[in-house]
This record gives sequence, structure tokens and C-alpha cells, in this order.
Amino acid sequence: MTENFTDSVFNLFTRHVSVRSFDSQKRLPKDTVNILMKAAQRASTSSNFQSWSAIIVENKSNKKQLAQYCANQKFIDEAPLFIIFCADASRHKWLTKERNFKFNSNYLDLLLVSAIDSALACQNALIMAESMGLGCCMVGSIRNKAKEVSEFLKLPKMSFATVGLAVGYPSFKNKVKPRLPKEVIINYEQYSTKNKEIFIKEYDSLMSETDIYKNRRVHVPGITPQFEEDVNHYGWIEHTARRMAKGNEMRSQLARFLEKQGFSLK
Ligand SMILES: Cc1cc2nc3c(=O)[nH]c(=O)nc-3n(C[C@H](O)[C@H](O)[C@H](O)COP(=O)(O)O)c2cc1C
Repeated sequence: MTENFTDSVFNLFTRHVSVRSFDSQKRLPKDTVNILMKAAQRASTSSNFQSWSAIIVENKSNKKQLAQYCANQKFIDEAPLFIIFCADASRHKWLTKERNFKFNSNYLDLLLVSAIDSALACQNALIMAESMGLGCCMVGSIRNKAKEVSEFLKLPKMSFATVGLAVGYPSFKNKVKPRLPKEVIINYEQYSTKNKEIFIKEYDSLMSETDIYKNRRVHVPGITPQFEEDVNHYGWIEHTARRMAKGNEMRSQLARFLEKQGFSLK
């Protein structure tokens, strides 16, 4: 473990893969939760607001229930530790009132600030865990049933679960997933779309040659062919386009829930 702790951060980043298969028998090193939370709390945070909270879930039946809320993703159940990161402005609302001020910060930016804070904390925890030889997978489907999750975790108003983090010893690891060529993502001085299509297509070919989409083709009802007939070229472009076309009905309800939780989307 000491060796992994001294591994360079850059090496950790280049080796990162999301892990969705855990050895549920292998216990986590002592103090894992404390170490991950220490790392998470050291993340940069907008205005030092620290507008996030974490819920540590290790209890089997709680994990099982949460896995069900998260699109029944089995690995959540399997992982010995599931941490739910929440955007949380409840403390800020409370302390403003406590000091007899009117709370004048409830606009969309507060939601973004607290959601970004929670994501940064989650990423710090993930890197920390990977440096300890553990594997992780972030879980955005914690937002699929935002209301149920919120009630289950007893989240106060002005908070909501943004992302989960399943943590454990990997029992299987995927190959490192290629990323888009830097030319697509990185711009200098100003945004440019020059040659982006060429580089996106290059990535598309690269991804179609991997087995990443094997048995994972997205079906858009009434539009894409049935599974057996779905044999044409399928790469990152088609996969992403189909996901965009399909959307996620549950997530499309999130705005209404957030307003009920007290956040303003204006
Ligand atoms: C905010 C966020 C939410 C995610 N949610 C899920 C999820 O619910 N289920 C899952 O299997 N992977 C989830 N992932 C993992 C991504 O699918 C994964 O990071 C991406 O495909 C790149 O693969 P890699 O992490 O192995 O490089 C999520 C990642 C992020 C950043």
C-alpha cells in the first residue's frame, strides 16, 4: 500500500478505469472512510462555502435499496462502501437566518456552486481510493429517483444527491478507456471548431474497434433496428447520438424535484 501511496498522481490518472465488479468479501483497509473523506474535504471549494455533504453507506440492506434506486446496478450492492455526495446549501441557509439576514443567494448559481463542490469532493475521494489500490465507480443514476433517494437518506431542504461513489477491491477491471483526442477538447485562446469533426471521427473508429459497445448498443424505440438487425458500424458517435436521442425520462423530472427541495433554477 505504501508503494501505491507514493505513486505519482499523473500515473494514477492515466491508469484510471471505472470498476463495476467488486470483491465483496475483501474488507477495506482500516480507516478507508476517514482517509477518503479527508481527501474529499481538501478539494477546492467555491468561496470556501464547502457546500456539499457525504453520506457513508456500508449497511447491506441500505446499499441494496440504493442500488435499486440507481437503475439496479448490481455493483453498488457488491461494493463494501457506497458514498453519496450531495450538493448542500442547507447549512448556508440556516446560518444566514441565524445571523438575522435574508437569504438572497437562492438562484441557479447556488445550485451549480454546490453541485460542483460535491463533484470535486467525489473526484478527490476517487483518486485517493485508487491510490490505495481500490477501485471505484461514480454513480450518476443516484439522480434517477432523486425524490426517493432524498427521502431514504433523510436529506434536508436545499440539498440533493448529485453523485454516488462505489468503492471496493476490484474483482475485474476493464481496459483503460480511450479519451477524445486533445484537439477536440482543448482550445487555445478562443474556442475553435476547426478540424474537430476529423478528430471526433478518428476517435469514433478507435472506439468501434474496441469491445466497449459489445452487447451495449443503445436501442431508440421505433427508430434504431432491433438487436439482431443492428449490425452497422457502431462507434462513439452513434452510441452518444442514440443516448442523446433517447434521453432519460427520470432525469428530465429533476428540475421539478430540485425546486421542491428549495433550490431556485432561475
Ligand atoms: C458524474 C458521473 C456519473 C457516472 N454514473 C455512472 C453510473 O451511474 N453507472 C456507471 O456504470 N458508470 C457511471 N459513471 C462512470 C462513467 O461511465 C465512466 O467514467 C466513463 O464511461 C469513462 O470510463 P472510465 O471511467 O472507465 O474511464 C459515471 C461517471 C461520472 C463522472
